[in-house]
Amino acid sequence: MRKVIAIYPGSFDPPTNGHLDLIERGSKIFDELIVAVLRNSEKAPLFSLAERRLMLENLTDHYKNVRVDTFDGLMVDYAARVDAGAVLRGIRAISDYEYELQMALMNRKLRPELETVFMMPAEQYSYLSSRLVREIAQLGGSVEGLVPEAVEQRLKERLDPAVKLKNARNPNAGKRR
Ligand code: PNS
Repeated sequence: MRKVIAIYPGSFDPPTNGHLDLIERGSKIFDELIVAVLRNSEKAPLFSLAERRLMLENLTDHYKNVRVDTFDGLMVDYAARVDAGAVLRGIRAISDYEYELQMALMNRKLRPELETVFMMPAEQYSYLSSRLVREIAQLGGSVEGLVPEAVEQRLKERLDPAVKLKNARNPNAGKRR
C-alpha cells in the first residue's frame, strides 16, 4: 500500500504543547509526518528559523516517523516537492474554522490531490496559541504548562534581562536543549 506522507506546516514561534499534542496525534495516523516551519520574511519572529527548527528537532527526536524541515513559497508547492498527500492542521475552536476552511479550500483549488486533515488538540490546549505565549512571556507572565520546559527556558533566556546579562558574562550558563 502507498505510504502516506503528511506535512504539518506552521510558524511555530515558539512551539507549544498544543503543537506537540498535534504532532503526537499526526505521528499515529500518518506513515511520515514532516513538521514544516515557514520561512516567513514578513513577520519579525521572536525566534530565528534555525532556533525554531532546532527546538522542534529536539522535541520530536523520539518519533521515528517525524522529521523537521523548513519551507518558503506556496505550501502546496512544498507539499509536492516532498511528495506529501496530506496537510495536517489543528483546529482549536470554532473561531479557527473560518480561516482554516478558507485556507484548506484555497489549497485544494491550487492542488486538488492534496488533502487537508484537521485534528483537535487535547482540550487543555484549546485556548493556547504561540501568539499568546509570546505576549505572556514578553510581559513577564508564566508560560509553565503551555510550552515544553526547553522552550520555557529559551523564552526566559530571550526575554529576561537578568538572564541575558548572566549569559553574556558566561556564554555557557543556562544552555539547555
Ligand atoms: O502557524 P500558522 O502561522 O498558522 O501557519 C500558517 C501557514 C504557514 C500554514 C500558512 O501561512 C501557509 O501555508 N503559508 C505558506 C504560503 C501559502 O501557501 N499561502 C497560501 C495559503 S492558502
